[in-house]
Amino acid sequence: MGTSFFRPAKLGIFIGSMRLEELISENDVKLKIRELAEQISNSIPESDQPIILLGILKGSVHFLSDLSRTLWELGRECQLEFMQVSSWHGATSSSGVVQIKKDIDSSIENRDVVIVEDILDTGRTLSHLRDLLGTRHPKSLQICTLLSKPDARIVNVECDYIGFQIPDKFVVGYGLDFDERYRNLQYIAVFHQDE
Ligand code: IMP
Ligand code: MG
Repeated sequence: MGTSFFRPAKLGIFIGSMRLEELISENDVKLKIRELAEQISNSIPESDQPIILLGILKGSVHFLSDLSRTLWELGRECQLEFMQVSSWHGATSSSGVVQIKKDIDSSIENRDVVIVEDILDTGRTLSHLRDLLGTRHPKSLQICTLLSKPDARIVNVECDYIGFQIPDKFVVGYGLDFDERYRNLQYIAVFHQDE
């Protein structure tokens, strides 16, 4: 599942010694979210309980917000929940240890749950979360990630929905950060430093 592409042509935005090169446009993100919402809505049967969209803070914040409102347009109610984990320490590589910084507030027992993540990189975070949440007896547990870097995978994770497959480059924007910066960029860009 997912689309592979990379647009190297644009030079992008220069800020000091670093450059933001557009990889996925705002409009392409928007179109993809519609597709993902349709897939989610088609795969989860109607029930008297809303779908739990479980956003992984902070990177998934814009994705979760847009996805949940598109699901509403498709006639599906969602309950928004959040978890925060850390496997990441400021720079551009993962530490390998997944620590729960904030757990979900509600029970997920007998509920349809979709974990909403910004990016699947080594796979450590989502593999850990799937195992942990699976012990809490949800009715269904699925994973939806906007981005995936297949070449960076260390731990295999089955993802139910993948927006875009991207090269193993560090990206920012649309929720993704470099040291807490650039999350509010409307599109997704490759982050180049010291060129
Ligand atoms: P994983 O556990 O290695 O799969 O890492 C997942 C987390 O690392 C994501 O939720 C992001 O917070 C962060 N991450 C991985 N790749 C990038 C990137 O290219 N830009 C920004 N954050 C990233
Ligand atoms: Mg994240």
